[in-house]
Amino acid sequence: MPITTCIFDAYGTLFDVAAAARNAAKEPGREAFAAHWPAIASHWRLKQLQYTWLRAVMGQHADFWDVTQNGLDWALEAEGLGDDPELRERLLQLYWELDAFPEVPAMLAALKSGGMNTAILSNGSPAMLDGAVQSALIGDVLDDVLSVESVGIFKPADIVYELVTKRFGCTRDEVLFVSSNGWDASAAAGYGFTTAWVNRAGEPMDRLPAKPNHVLNDLTGIPKLAGV
Ligand code: LAC
Repeated sequence: MPITTCIFDAYGTLFDVAAAARNAAKEPGREAFAAHWPAIASHWRLKQLQYTWLRAVMGQHADFWDVTQNGLDWALEAEGLGDDPELRERLLQLYWELDAFPEVPAMLAALKSGGMNTAILSNGSPAMLDGAVQSALIGDVLDDVLSVESVGIFKPADIVYELVTKRFGCTRDEVLFVSSNGWDASAAAGYGFTTAWVNRAGEPMDRLPAKPNHVLNDLTGIPKLAGV
C-alpha cells in the first residue's frame, strides 16, 4: 500500500532534547553548569526514558512531565548540582520551548502539500506537546498530536502505536513512522509500520526483534520516502 500517513516521534526527533541544557549553559552566571551540561543532558534523557520503560513494566504510570522532572533530579544530583533550585526550574522551563531541528518546518510543509496525513505520536503529555508545537510554530502543518496519556502507558506498548490507525482510519502498512529513538523505530517496525530511524548521532542499531526499514541522518529525506 502507498504511504498516506506520516507519524513523528516528538522528543529527539522533531525537537532537540539537548537544547534546554545547551541553551541554559550559555546564560550568564552558569559557569558551574556549563562545565557539566553535556553529561547532565545525557543522564537526563537516559533516566527519563528508563523511567518510562520501568513504569510501563511495573504498571505504575505517571505522566511524561513527572518522569522528565525525576530524570533531571537524578542527573543534577549525579553531577553534584542537586542543590540549585533556580537552575532546575530554568531547565524545566526550557524543556517547554525546545528548539525544533532546522529542517522540520519545510519537511512537514512538503508532506502536507503532498496530501499526507501528518501527526506526532509521543510519550509527552498533551500540555508539554502543545507548548513545544506552539513554540516551534508547526501546528498548522500537523493534523493531530497524539499522546500516550489517552492510553495510560508509555511506548513501546502496542496500544500506543494503535492510536495512529484508529485516528486516521488507515492500515499499518500505510503509515511511515519516523523516530530518532532506535528502540521506538524498531518497535514500530515490529508493529507493522514502515519505519525510518533518524540516526543523527551515528549510533549502532539496537539489538531488538525488528529493524527499521530506513536509516537517515536527518529529516530532509522523509518526503521522498513517503512518495511525495
Ligand atoms: C517521545 C519520546 C520517546 O516523544 O521521545 O515519545
